[in-house]
Amino acid sequence: MRTIATLLSLAVGSYALKERAVSASAYSSNSAGNYKISSVTAPVQGEGDPGSSSTWRLTIDDTSSGHKQTILGFGAAVTDATVESFNTLSDSKLQTLLNDLLTDSGANFALMRHTIGASDLSGDPSYTYDDNGGSEDTSLSGFSLGDRGTSMAKILASMKSLQADLTILGSPWSAPGWMKLNGVIDGNTTDNNLNDGYLSGGTGKSGYASAFAQYFVKYIQAYQNLGVSIDAITIQNEPLNSQSGYPTMYVYADESAQLIKNFIGPALSQANLNTKIWAYDHNTEFSDVTSYPQTVINDAAQYVDSVAWHCYATNVDWTVLSSFHETNPNVNQYMTECWTPSSGSWNQAADFTMGPLQNWAAGVAAWTLGTDSSDGPHLSSGGCGTCTGLVTVNDDGSYTFETAYYMMAQFSKFIPVGATILSGNGSYTYSGGGGVQSVASLNPDGTRSVVIENLFDNDIYLTLNTKSGEEWSGDIPSESVTTWVLPASS
Ligand SMILES: *[C@@H]1O[C@H](CO)[C@@H](O)[C@H](O)[C@H]1NC(C)=O
Ligand SMILES: *[C@@H]1O[C@H](CO)[C@@H](O)[C@H](O)[C@H]1NC(C)=O
Repeated sequence: MRTIATLLSLAVGSYALKERAVSASAYSSNSAGNYKISSVTAPVQGEGDPGSSSTWRLTIDDTSSGHKQTILGFGAAVTDATVESFNTLSDSKLQTLLNDLLTDSGANFALMRHTIGASDLSGDPSYTYDDNGGSEDTSLSGFSLGDRGTSMAKILASMKSLQADLTILGSPWSAPGWMKLNGVIDGNTTDNNLNDGYLSGGTGKSGYASAFAQYFVKYIQAYQNLGVSIDAITIQNEPLNSQSGYPTMYVYADESAQLIKNFIGPALSQANLNTKIWAYDHNTEFSDVTSYPQTVINDAAQYVDSVAWHCYATNVDWTVLSSFHETNPNVNQYMTECWTPSSGSWNQAADFTMGPLQNWAAGVAAWTLGTDSSDGPHLSSGGCGTCTGLVTVNDDGSYTFETAYYMMAQFSKFIPVGATILSGNGSYTYSGGGGVQSVASLNPDGTRSVVIENLFDNDIYLTLNTKSGEEWSGDIPSESVTTWVLPASS
């Protein structure tokens, strides 16, 4: 499946080779909403004329010494809320929407994280792919994707058909209830742990660790049968978060390492699945922020080469990723979850994309891709009631791209899969909130993209110097994320 898709895309690609850009261009999305990936005045070579605008300077190293991480992609979480709301659209509207999301005529998203079973953005009731009425099912004979899992696989298959470079990451919010010490998917934060023998009160030995590993094998195979190859999993969403209102499960760092090293890693490999395992999948803030993923990487390095981070730390500090990179230069890092509430600032999604990119993340995924007009459906027992998708599906059968969609598209559309992030200087945010943040990439076709976030409520005139010896200058609209696409350096 994957091979055929790749070959097809290569064949198509060779006919559709784009002409090399010879001049610069610029696109902007702003707080006011009148720019939506709109073409704006392109930068000119040299100092240009700032007029009366205040000026700003950036430098990028576009030579080999400035090469940093290689981009895997940008996108969002495909939750049950997303699938259910998208499926209320007419076939033609859904096709247009998916085209906008996944091709370079729109946002060119290429990283989708999906929920394995229920999350806080699922309608009632909570479920996993093997609930078995709560009774033990060690052989997983009752495994089934069910209606919701099947609908999710179908939409992911459509996405993959539009975007050959799509990476799909799967994350469960809980193991089936019967595998847990408290016996339930949600509703009880006492003993909210896998019954895997690592914890007091376990069955001893390894409990349901093997069954949990086979649950992933069955899930990956079931999606494969519906045309979806799962590129990577995390074994538990937010393993240090235990809630009663929605599915969660507590997994200790050492427990996670042992589950991956002794059970899940070997099970995937015995089933000939090349699905990767990403560690952690939680915030940057815990007491010793890097110890959890470091423990997993140290113990289960054979199966884990990537770490996933979320944004919900108080005063989120993305330099945690740079610190982690210093000690683990060969480990890939991703920002796999950050919500986009309608109450968020205009630049909230730009911030959670920019910060990780400046600190070695190779991809970013928002929470969530789509919701209905009530930020749902979500669990009535405590699912997120204010998680607005990048796309809202309206009650009248139309859909709306939210501000967060445009802010993310300012990156994803112009920093394609395989682009190399470049080192750069000159980003600064004042304590009052004004300032300029930027990130640049060298793209596979030789062009360079510079994404510039202007946090001032006035236009600025920006001059960019490249290590290759060029100078470009131009206007950056007030409260905007503006992307310059510069031609290949000669
Ligand atoms: C940014 O600043 C650092 C420290 O002064 C310097 O080593 C580096 O070369 C600069 N990078 C660019 C792209 O100007
Ligand atoms: C929660 O689970 C524990 C099992 O660990 C059980 O003893 C307790 O009664 C449960 N609480 C509720 C409210 O169901």
